[in-house]
This record gives sequence, structure tokens and C-alpha cells, in this order.
Amino acid sequence: MNIKKIEKNQPKIFEFNTKNIELAKKIISNYPEKKQQSAVMALLYLAQRQNNNWIPLVAMKYIAKFLDMPYIKVYEVATFYSMYNLTPVGKYFFQVCTTTPCMIRGAYNLVNVCKKRISEKESEISKDANSSWMEVECLGACVNAPMIQINENYFEDLDPEKLEKIIDQTNQKEAPKPGSYRGRINAEPENSRKTLLGNKNA
Ligand code: FES
Repeated sequence: MNIKKIEKNQPKIFEFNTKNIELAKKIISNYPEKKQQSAVMALLYLAQRQNNNWIPLVAMKYIAKFLDMPYIKVYEVATFYSMYNLTPVGKYFFQVCTTTPCMIRGAYNLVNVCKKRISEKESEISKDANSSWMEVECLGACVNAPMIQINENYFEDLDPEKLEKIIDQTNQKEAPKPGSYRGRINAEPENSRKTLLGNKNA
């Protein structure tokens, strides 16, 4: 279970760069007039991407002004959803799903690899500042369990050896290949297995 913590060392300044100001305006234009607050989740995500994958309090205040909404409402959204990081994370941020389907398929073996190769404690940045890891709830790819998310990509059908190789690659600053690590396309059955084809109503 992920408990949201707020970073103690907060930066004092945040504002969107030129590209993100344009993007934010474009996102807001998708909503009816005076409903600009509906863009809060997308703008928080933009802030996170701009700020090395975490959101400082000053960015929440900036977004509150940008959207003309109370700061506390932005804070509530940012602290509710697990996709927002409120403390710094590594350049490669490993989110290990440990909800039941992944857990019974070996998720805690993956957690042990993260402890051994990244840092003993969850949410602690590795000594080389390259990576951090965290346990998370279901990421919606249960059929390819166990799986992890690294930054914006999913890595599925894993085992400890495969995760070790992925970590080797990220340590070399290489981008590991996302998707199934047992050669499946999306969530297709393995070994061309077919079911129910002989069933009239299938
Ligand atoms: S339980 Fe792990 S992705 Fe759903």
C-alpha cells in the first residue's frame, strides 16, 4: 500500500516553461468556458513531467492560480491519485504491482530484486541517483502478471532474472524494451493456445 508522503525540501519557485504554457492552454480549451478547473489532472501531469517526475507544493499553487481554483482542491487531487509523485524519484522510477494477481505470480520476488539492486527501502533513491522503486496497487495489466511500470512504460510477464537484466540496461542508461517478456503480443494466449473455438456460441 502506497502512503503519500510530501517532500520536506520543497523548491520555492515553479512555473511552466513556454512549451507547457502552450500545452496547458490547449488542454484548457478542450473544456467549456469557466470549466477550466476540469484540466487540473492534465496540468498536474504536465508539471510532474517538467519537474523530473515529481510535483512540489509550489507547482500545485501555480496550477491553482493558472486554473483560478482553490489551492486545497489541487492539493486534494494531487494527494489522492497514485500516479502523482510528491517526493523526488529516480530517473528510472520502478513501480512494482503487488496486488493479488501479480502477487500470486511472484511480484514479491521482483520487490526483492528492487531491494537488492536499487535500494533497500521503498521510495529511497539509489546511491547513483539513477533509480528508485515503489510498491503500487493494480496497474490494470493483470493478465500479464507479474508486471512493473518504469516511467511511462509497462514491462510484463517478468521474473527476477528478466528484471535484473532490465535494471542492468537502465544502469547503462539504455532504454529497455517495454511489453511482454515472454514474447506475447499484448495479452494474447501463449503458444498459440486457442480456447472455446469448438463451442458453437463462442
Ligand atoms: S494485479 Fe498487477 S496489474 Fe493488476
